[in-house]
Amino acid sequence: MAESWAGREVVVDVERVAHGGHCVARHEGRVLFVRHTLPGERVRALVTEDGGGSFCRADAVEVLRASPDRVAAPCRYARPGGCGGCDWQHVDPAAQRRLKQAVVTEQLQRLAGLDVDVRVEEVAPAPLHWRTRMQYAVDGERLGLRAHRSHDVIEIDSCPIAVPEVDAPVARERAVPGAVTIEVEAADDGAIAVSAVDARRRRRALAGGPVRHDTGGRRYEVRTGGFWQVHVHAADVLLEAVLELADVQAGESIVDLYCGAGLFTAALAERTGPTGRVIGVEGTASAVRDGRRNVSDLRQCEIVRGSIDARTVDGFTHPVDVVVLDPPRAGAKRPLVEAICRLDARAVVYVACDPAALARDVAAFAGCGWRLERLRAFDLFPMTQHVECVALLVPEPGGAPPPAGGPLA
Ligand SMILES: C[S@@+](CC[C@H](N)C(=O)[O-])C[C@H]1O[C@@H](n2cnc3c(N)ncnc32)[C@H](O)[C@@H]1O
Repeated sequence: MAESWAGREVVVDVERVAHGGHCVARHEGRVLFVRHTLPGERVRALVTEDGGGSFCRADAVEVLRASPDRVAAPCRYARPGGCGGCDWQHVDPAAQRRLKQAVVTEQLQRLAGLDVDVRVEEVAPAPLHWRTRMQYAVDGERLGLRAHRSHDVIEIDSCPIAVPEVDAPVARERAVPGAVTIEVEAADDGAIAVSAVDARRRRRALAGGPVRHDTGGRRYEVRTGGFWQVHVHAADVLLEAVLELADVQAGESIVDLYCGAGLFTAALAERTGPTGRVIGVEGTASAVRDGRRNVSDLRQCEIVRGSIDARTVDGFTHPVDVVVLDPPRAGAKRPLVEAICRLDARAVVYVACDPAALARDVAAFAGCGWRLERLRAFDLFPMTQHVECVALLVPEPGGAPPPAGGPLA
């Protein structure tokens, strides 16, 4: 067996950015995914993990030739061996967006065979003080954030991407015995909710909640620990993009898959009006309860609980004009995409937090005769590798029909 490269230091010329918050370099025929660097740099890289096959993971521990996009990291915990929360603290914010743009473009090219010109839009406040929810890891007396790909807790005094209401001192003040995680969430009115999660993943509310958010002229309430978009302006930005791309008309019928606490569901129902119909589908019981309360004034709107898969979607027997979907990181996957295409809607609006999953699903849509009509991308996670995309997919006139399925197949 070949000797592991873990612990070895090598000097490499860094090539392109890759999906995952690192850049590609090569050494002795092997690929290195190097963090804390930038394309065009020459660095001394410490191999942190030998992937066993053709690749290794590494950290740039010394910069021998710096990129013009390199800046001093505003966070003192963002360094090799330090906090794993951010990937691009050492990069000028405009260049961070160009890196994300390159990743989205590359994923769509590689996985969907598409050449797409996309711009990652800046969202203020950037790049610091935007996170409204923080999960602090607790290890005995120590409270902080985890190191990259590790359970080690890096003790921190303050996190510069957090809004002040959810910064580390707030969590430290509330920490309780037995907690392995302290979660702090900020509402739009500045109120905070704090909860503790123990080793058996049981959550205990310590202060505040439910968390109130005002978006698109509506108030939403979310149970402590329930899903809500993390950037202080994410809900507004994504809602605006979804409504723009969906272009809902009065009387239309809409399905909102993975609807959470009803953020898009309610706004879509306002657009379709009392003669329309909106069905939100969500798997988490507490989110369903939040969602039902949040849309309770809209009679055309219904939230159903269900684990979303092709069968759930094949169960919709009424005509559907628009499908909105906002799946978790893994994306929708081919069987669900095929079922969505069988609904024969005029449009699908897809909110994606992972460009690779989006690209795979866009390829699955293409296999059903649908095309990517528009793509917007937002820097809703500055300093990190993450990027949020909103895609509009439409049926290609005369395109291949989706594979048969559904209740009668
Ligand atoms: C990315 S969140 C989106 C929520 C909502 N669209 C929003 O913006 O607030 C994804 C949601 O999907 C739900 N979910 C994840 N997997 C699911 C599944 N297989 N079936 C149903 N819901 C699921 C999660 O509980 C979560 O609320």
